[in-house]
Amino acid sequence: MSAPPPAPVPTPASPALFTAAAAARLHAHAPYSRFLVGAALRTADGTVFVGANVENAAYPQGQCAEASAIGAMVAGGAKRIAEIVVIGAPADPNADASGLCTPCGGCRQRLREFSAPDTLIHVAGPEGMRATFTMDQLLPFSFGPDNLSF
Ligand code: THU
Repeated sequence: MSAPPPAPVPTPASPALFTAAAAARLHAHAPYSRFLVGAALRTADGTVFVGANVENAAYPQGQCAEASAIGAMVAGGAKRIAEIVVIGAPADPNADASGLCTPCGGCRQRLREFSAPDTLIHVAGPEGMRATFTMDQLLPFSFGPDNLSF
């Protein structure tokens, strides 16, 4: 397999969004993977919703941080994501934390439901921002509400 293309350079998300994602990450329930993920999304009116990964002893029932943040947004009465910061790294500060925590395939589709093609998805580590993608970069040729005429 060839090497993946270099990650796009990060564009600045608001520091408040990064801080909110970092704080949510510390609340993750991830005793099985020991990989803590926090997400903070902003809606167009500036409201911020956060989420963390929530694992379960019945492993397939675990939930990603992005899904938690989307659930908080919908419960809060909002339906559109302006931008999102996702921070993922091992709980162990001595572990290798160099990997990019890009949203998993399922979360790309979850984000797609509430995003535009140019919605920014920032990927960070505990030390700061690492890369920024558009929704369309992460999920090209996607299937969304418009495919169902919604
Ligand atoms: N995880 C997320 O919360 N978001 C992602 O985008 C990737 C993975 C979680 C799921 C699981 O709890 C842990 O990270 C390890 O896969």
